[in-house]
Amino acid sequence: MLDAADVNAVFQSYGRCCRKERFFEDFYDIFFNSSDDIKAMFQNTDMAQQYHLLRAGLLWLIMHARGASDNKLRQLGGSHDRNGYNVRPEMYNIWLRSLLLAIRNHDPEFVPELAEQWKRVLTPGIDIIRGAY
Ligand code: HEM
Repeated sequence: MLDAADVNAVFQSYGRCCRKERFFEDFYDIFFNSSDDIKAMFQNTDMAQQYHLLRAGLLWLIMHARGASDNKLRQLGGSHDRNGYNVRPEMYNIWLRSLLLAIRNHDPEFVPELAEQWKRVLTPGIDIIRGAY
């Protein structure tokens, strides 16, 4: 489990970001603009649905940092691995960078330390998904 102050700060920041649907649109715009390979993987995706899936996925990452079971993350590891969406390990770095940019744009209380807290909180859960590759 991680530092409770980090997890709480991230949980609240996430709440502020989630108040705007535009947060998720902005994240995927940044994510897609960062790589043509990544953009191509979402060619047939219903994006409105995907915003909701990501909203839940992010919550699972944060809950994992609060000590929740890793079942959901292992499931995501299975769908994202080389036999699934084939999300190559380095793509998770781009994912995290895109997310931090979207947070900076949408959390009105953003400060640089918050980006470090987000990284500390999400990394163990991301490692589970990426580790399944
Ligand atoms: C740790 C970060 C990530 C989380 C929490 C996450 C979460 C999710 C969730 C909840 C779904 C829907 C459930 C499922 O299909 O299993 C999904 C689908 C998907 N994810 Fe991720 N994902 C992450 C990273 C990535 C990355 C880096 C890529 C790389 C391109 C990616 C590509 C996809 C694709 C292609 C789909 C399927 C879209 C479709 O249905 O057309 N994900 N993701």
